[in-house]
Amino acid sequence: MHHRWLLLFACFWVLFMLMVASKFITLTMKDPEGYGIKQGPLTVLPETEKMTVTETKKLQIEVQPTTTPLKDDSYTALIHKERMELLSYVCHNESLRNLSRNAISKFVLDRIFVSDKHRILFCQTPKVGNTQWKKVLIVLNGAFSSIEEIPENVVHDHEKNGLPRLSSYSAQDVNERLNSYFKFFIVRDPFERLISAFKDKFIHNPRFEPWYKHNIAPVLIRKYRKNRRMSRGGLQFQDFVRYLGDPNHRFLDLQFGDHIIHWVTFVELCAPCEINYNVIGHHETLEDDAPYILKEAGIEHLVSYPTIPPGITKYNRSKVEHYFSKVSKRDIKHLYTRFKGDFELFGYRKPTFLF
Ligand SMILES: *[C@@H]1O[C@H](CO)[C@@H](O)[C@H](O)[C@H]1NC(C)=O
Ligand SMILES: *[C@@H]1O[C@H](CO)[C@@H](O)[C@H](O)[C@H]1NC(C)=O
Ligand SMILES: *[C@@H]1O[C@H](CO)[C@@H](O)[C@H](O)[C@H]1NC(C)=O
Repeated sequence: MHHRWLLLFACFWVLFMLMVASKFITLTMKDPEGYGIKQGPLTVLPETEKMTVTETKKLQIEVQPTTTPLKDDSYTALIHKERMELLSYVCHNESLRNLSRNAISKFVLDRIFVSDKHRILFCQTPKVGNTQWKKVLIVLNGAFSSIEEIPENVVHDHEKNGLPRLSSYSAQDVNERLNSYFKFFIVRDPFERLISAFKDKFIHNPRFEPWYKHNIAPVLIRKYRKNRRMSRGGLQFQDFVRYLGDPNHRFLDLQFGDHIIHWVTFVELCAPCEINYNVIGHHETLEDDAPYILKEAGIEHLVSYPTIPPGITKYNRSKVEHYFSKVSKRDIKHLYTRFKGDFELFGYRKPTFLF
């Protein structure tokens, strides 16, 4: 009888100690300073766990209707550290080499904008709020004193906006800047970005850019439209996807020139495995990422990111499903094969609901 009580007590004691210990472990995990010092054990976390953090974050974003930053700074810092670790891990995966590697070509240097005054480089990725970031940098460079004062037509006019491209510097100046400046860019779910590019360039085209509808669309329709009888009407999303998933797309890309920046991969735009970016923001978490980028770049006291309209950064699965419902599974697979690098490098989940 006596022994039983002793045993029971011992069990409780062990349980109690375990609870105390687990509390301790969570505390050290959350502590930003502790995290900084104890890099060792955390960097050897299995990849599945790294992915979990990113996924947890994404899930939270999906169920979160508000735009106010709810996460504290150390949590945001942790998310960004995980992202860079994932990037570096995927960059080293040889079987993804063709989809993750790129040369720091003139095309890439053309995408990068420079603020010498604040030692910042920003790689432009269209359809992920890059106009707003350009405005932030234009103000920082001093051509205008506030974001509201910049006329819309000047934002993309690089003669007047005081925002040089990295390609306009000598090779030595380029290297110096790549090695010492704060570097960032923004990504977004790759398929949702393509939908956005398609709508913006071939359906609405709010800016006056007739060449998309008049020069590019007819070429794509001629080559990629399956149903010849449907010759009337503009470019369909199905035609666009077939072009993007075509392994021989490069031939047409050359013909289209720099217009392709709206739909080539983030890898092709910014060379994320070759350039050591400090921060890669996600459109889906821009409410947290924009202030974080300003802080990391040391400019949060000088400028703030324009107000983000509620709901626009949220991943819209039903929109993605709607657009891809007209595309054959085979064409979606080809598209995914081309954009797989972007999905894996930046921790976006494969949209298996489409296949
Ligand atoms: C490398 O990438 C391939 C293709 O996505 C994947 O199957 C493989 O598991 C990755 N390798 C490692 C070591 O993660
Ligand atoms: C990568 O591209 C090269 C040249 O285009 C090709 O020979 C090779 O098979 C590709 N590798 C993979 C893993 O797809
Ligand atoms: C998602 O997209 C669909 C179709 O474009 C739209 O009707 C709907 O309002 C969007 N949902 C949200 C939450 O923005």
